[in-house]
Amino acid sequence: MKENQVSSMALWTTYFRAYHATHDEPKIFDDFLAWGFFNEEERTSLGQQMMNIIKAFNPAYTSVFPDQATALAWLMQTLAGTPITLSRAKYTEEILEKTVRQGVRQYVILGAGMDTFAFRRKELVEQLQIFEIDHPATQDFKRNRITELGWEIPEQLHFVPVDFTKDSFSEALKRSPYDPQALTFFSWLGVSYYLPQDVVFAMLKTIAKVSPTGSLVIFDYLDKEAFVPEKAAPRVQGMLGFAQQKGEIMIAGFEPSTLAAELDRLGLRLEEDLSPWDIEVRHFMGRTDFYHACEHAHFACAVVK
Ligand SMILES: C[S@@+](CC[C@H](N)C(=O)[O-])C[C@H]1O[C@@H](n2cnc3c(N)ncnc32)[C@H](O)[C@@H]1O
Repeated sequence: MKENQVSSMALWTTYFRAYHATHDEPKIFDDFLAWGFFNEEERTSLGQQMMNIIKAFNPAYTSVFPDQATALAWLMQTLAGTPITLSRAKYTEEILEKTVRQGVRQYVILGAGMDTFAFRRKELVEQLQIFEIDHPATQDFKRNRITELGWEIPEQLHFVPVDFTKDSFSEALKRSPYDPQALTFFSWLGVSYYLPQDVVFAMLKTIAKVSPTGSLVIFDYLDKEAFVPEKAAPRVQGMLGFAQQKGEIMIAGFEPSTLAAELDRLGLRLEEDLSPWDIEVRHFMGRTDFYHACEHAHFACAVVK
């Protein structure tokens, strides 16, 4: 991430959710609050940037698509980032909902970006303490936007600024009302890609240390082939290139076949590892638009031993 600047990729994933909520049916994930983070000028500019991508790859796009809106819809649905962002959010909130019924009392959102859970899911929020952990620059941006929007911050929501590469996440939690004895659900969406592998493992180990047995963590990751140009799907190569252009370099992937053993060493039991095909079957099959699960992207759910 660029020093002192809101994460550009966090704004893009917000745009993906916002676009989907306002343009697509049926919804994969309905983040009906996401548009709020952008003013009119920013919405136009983000749409324009997407159109520039279409023009760069297909200068004759006007002969392919009847109008700009159809071209934009096609791009949004076929990019790598949109299906990953939507389906990981759906997967996470479905499991969260289930585990709250089973006794989870805290929700820690790591690298929260513009996540709107605390404002969108009032019925669950009332049963939880929520901790949004994020880079200070991204969190400052979000808090300013929330103030401008006049959204009321629920008393259950706690903002905890942390730079995962510099600060101690466990020390930061200690300075917050986080209860290490309470059954906790951690989500870590769209972040593992950007951190060195030792930082990712240290974070997962800390999660296992600071929460009781039975707590859960959900994270998404890219497999290692995503980082090998000869093996990576073209749209995933495009996503890596786009992130790099934005100054947020995707550097780390996991090997699915050894993930369970790696997590085991860190104090976690891998409960589920959804492959792209599993994600396709669960969240995309039967759609008549262009959305499909993204190659190389996995969703992992692990339980603290
Ligand atoms: C692609 S965004 C994902 C945001 C959100 N989870 C989502 O799905 O929309 C990546 C998030 O990771 C955070 N992040 C990246 N590097 C970080 C670091 N070193 N420390 C803390 N947060 C970091 C960014 O601030 C941003 O919120």
